[in-house]
Amino acid sequence: MTVIEPKIELHLHLEGAAPAAFIRQIAFEKRMNINGIFDDHGNYAYRDFWHFLEVYEVATSTLSRPEDYARLTRAVLQESAASGVVYCETFLSPDFCGGRDVGAWRDYLAAIHEAAAGAERDFGIVLRGIVTPIRHFGPEKARETALCAAETAGDFIVGFGLAGDEKKWQPIDFKWSFECAREAGLRLTCHAGEWGGPESVRAAWRDLGVERIGHGVRAIEDPRLVEDLAEAGVVLECCPGSNIALGIYPDWPAHPIARLRERGVRVTISTDDPPFFHTTMAREYAHLAEAFGWDDAVFLGIARTSAEAAFCDPDTRDKIMKKLEKADV
Ligand code: ADE
Ligand code: ZN
Repeated sequence: MTVIEPKIELHLHLEGAAPAAFIRQIAFEKRMNINGIFDDHGNYAYRDFWHFLEVYEVATSTLSRPEDYARLTRAVLQESAASGVVYCETFLSPDFCGGRDVGAWRDYLAAIHEAAAGAERDFGIVLRGIVTPIRHFGPEKARETALCAAETAGDFIVGFGLAGDEKKWQPIDFKWSFECAREAGLRLTCHAGEWGGPESVRAAWRDLGVERIGHGVRAIEDPRLVEDLAEAGVVLECCPGSNIALGIYPDWPAHPIARLRERGVRVTISTDDPPFFHTTMAREYAHLAEAFGWDDAVFLGIARTSAEAAFCDPDTRDKIMKKLEKADV
C-alpha cells in the first residue's frame, strides 16, 4: 500500500481551484454562456497571465450565491484531501463574495465555513481563510475589503493578503488596508515576485510588513535579498507548477525553489489555481521529486515549515504537527 504523505497547502485561490467542469455545470444551471473561456477539450483556455486573470473573473462570475461557494468549497477540499492535503489556507475575496458588502460577505463566509466543517468531518482536511483584495481593482476597494476582513477576523478568517496584477499599483498603496487587517489580529501575506522582480518582493516585505510572500521566487535574481529573506525567516509560498504553466520558467529544473531552499530560504509548496495549471499537490510533489531528487525527508521538512508558517491558532497547528510526526520517515 502506498502511504500518501500528509501535505499542507498555504496558497490556494478558491475560485481558481474550481474544476472547469464544475464551473460549466453552474453556468448551465443558471443559463449563462461562458463557452469562450474553454478550449476544445473543456479545459480553461488563456493566452498569458493577464488573459488568465480575465478568464478567472468570467469563471468566477458564475458563482453568485453563498450556496455556489459552499458546493465549490466541498468539491475543492475533497480533491485536495485526495492529494494528501491535511491543512489548507485559501484566499477568499469579498469582491467576488457579495461585492464587498459586509452583510453579504458574512453570508458567503457562513456558507463556506459550514462546507469546510463538513469536509473536515468527511475528508479529514482543515481549512482556514485569508481575505484577499484584488490588486488591479485598486486601493480604494481594498480598503472596503479590509473592513470586511476586520469584521470577520477569528478562528476561520486568519489572514489578509493581496492577489491580482502585480504590475498595477505599489505595495505601499495598500498600507492602510494591511494596517487595518493587522490591527484586527490578522496575519499578513502578499503576492510579489511573480510578475515583478526582486524589488517588488522587497517592497511588499518592507512596506506592508508581511511575514509570508505569495510566490516570491524572483527574489533569486538578487542574492542580497535572498540572504535577507533567509536571515529574517520570511516564508515563500512557492507554486512551481503555476509559474511554469504561466511561462515564468521554462521547465521544472529551471524553477528556483531548490536554489532558494539551499540558500536557507523557508520555502513551501502550493498549487495556486490547480485546474488552470493542470496540477494538484500530488503532481507538484512528483515533479519536484523528479527535478531535484527530493525524498520524503525533504518533503516532510517542507511540510513542517508550512505548519510553522500557517496562520491558524496554536491548537490547530499542534494537531497538524502530530499528523506530520506520525508520517515521520
Ligand atoms: N489570482 C489567482 N491566481 C493568481 C496568481 N498566480 N497571481 C496573482 N493573482 C492571482
Ligand atoms: Zn496566487
